[in-house]
Amino acid sequence: MATQFKENTVIVVFGASGDLAKKKTFPALFGLYREGYLSSSTKIYGYARSQMTSEELHDRIKGHFKTTTEESKQKVEEFLKLVSYISGPYDKAEGFKTLNESIEAFEQERGVKEPHRLFYLALPPSVFITVAKELKENVYASNGITRIIVEKPFGRDLETATELQKQLSPLFTEEEIYRIDHYLGKELVKNLFVLRFGNQILNSSWNKESIKSIQISFKEPFGTEGRGGYFDDIGIIRDVMQNHLLQVLTLLTMDRPASFDPESIRDEKVKVLKAMAPIDKKDIIIGQYTKSLDGSKPAYVDDETVKPGSKAVTFAAMTLHIENERWDGVPIVMRAGKALNEGKVEVRIQYKQVAKGIFEDMPPNELVIRIQPNEAVYIKLNAKTPGLATTSQISDLDLTYSKRYQQFWIPEAYESLIKNALEGDHSNFVRDDELDVSWKLFTPFLNYLESPEGPSPELYPYGSRGPEELKQYLADHGYIFTGPGKYQWPVTRPQENL
Ligand code: NDP
Ligand code: BG6
Repeated sequence: MATQFKENTVIVVFGASGDLAKKKTFPALFGLYREGYLSSSTKIYGYARSQMTSEELHDRIKGHFKTTTEESKQKVEEFLKLVSYISGPYDKAEGFKTLNESIEAFEQERGVKEPHRLFYLALPPSVFITVAKELKENVYASNGITRIIVEKPFGRDLETATELQKQLSPLFTEEEIYRIDHYLGKELVKNLFVLRFGNQILNSSWNKESIKSIQISFKEPFGTEGRGGYFDDIGIIRDVMQNHLLQVLTLLTMDRPASFDPESIRDEKVKVLKAMAPIDKKDIIIGQYTKSLDGSKPAYVDDETVKPGSKAVTFAAMTLHIENERWDGVPIVMRAGKALNEGKVEVRIQYKQVAKGIFEDMPPNELVIRIQPNEAVYIKLNAKTPGLATTSQISDLDLTYSKRYQQFWIPEAYESLIKNALEGDHSNFVRDDELDVSWKLFTPFLNYLESPEGPSPELYPYGSRGPEELKQYLADHGYIFTGPGKYQWPVTRPQENL
């Protein structure tokens, strides 16, 4: 059985009637309970404006819980007993006072001396500060521990992010704030640390001397259907690149921290972000999806919630350069798109080719870290084709999680992060100065794209690989595409050897 948390913890999910709470936050809390990481002495509240009973909240959320065994099914009812719902406004003290009375009654009944309260703000940014103020005024545990988890977006540019921080910092200390970027909770993203610094074979070649190019790609097979209203003012760059992919990039390129101390890790992340050159506005591809070739899938602008003639970017590719000893001259291509041919998030590190001479056309080694789906790490290596022939072929060292780790529980990102917040571990959360540097990097670029001189997105069909120019763009930034034909997985024996 896993170690349990502090007893009698109180968790409040604000925005409990919303999509995120239903699909991610409550299922993550259940997951932690199911695995023994949340004590049955915990009290969980859902809070939102909608009128609803606790039972109605239970009915909304329980369908999203993961239950693979009989035992886990039984845990659902046990868990739901811990969850109550309180309805109240976000901008008036009344609901917060009711919430506080209920929490205090609970803590008194349990004889709690030092309250431990975690507030999860699964809310739109428009009400975020209002709620934080009411919380501080009415529900803050001054004689114990209060922590607040904040969801993205943390602003839409440098100015708004700075303003948000200015309003938040008098209310809660940096120690109390947990800015969640759920990519930091993904198993393979967390593994970057161990893979890089725990393997000398990788550690020693993790630099410009050995690596030719890096790609970080995010592909989704669906469009913004139904979410166009939200997405239209945001675009893919703010939605996933400035946050999720940039986090992956910093973990991938930072230097080794001096210790496991969260601040030591976050210091290294900030350092590498500061070494990034401004993004070259001319060296980008932006796109927007149009109808699928067979006409069955809609164009982005067909969404009724999207402004007519919208230039919102649903695909982008850009190249980042880190100007330090380790990375100078290595192009790092970040690309992200909605409505593409598949769903996949991966990192592709392509090594330099071996010296010519006897190995004229030897394909480069490639290390692929597939974050999702089907977590895997594989390295493409050249090996002699078995048999009498002297030819070589691309083979791989393959760590496919579903094969290697069948007996393991791979936590959902939110499970892992909520556990960290409950323990007061900041390593996998975004620090204020980190946010500041990342917005400094992206704001000039976004301002240009959204100015009258900004280019129009290139149209690409729903279900395609993205804009036509992508293939050439990747080649121009050092990526050698070896397939299809040269590499197959799993490897089949060539005909001549059968
Ligand atoms: P792919 O052949 O799928 O892709 C290699 C790279 O080339 C990607 O960056 C891809 O971009 C790009 N690419 C794909 N098609 C084209 C194209 N027509 N023109 C230009 N670029 C292209 O990956 P791998 O070679 O790494 O692996 C081959 C297959 O084997 C994959 O399906 C992989 O998942 C699988 N495999 C699975 C393993 C496992 O599960 N453990 C282990 C090893 C391999 P884009 O992503 O945009 O298509
Ligand atoms: C969210 C974005 O932050 O991340 C979504 O707003 C995106 O547009 C999602 O689909 C991707 O997360 P995941 O975990 O499904 O890869």
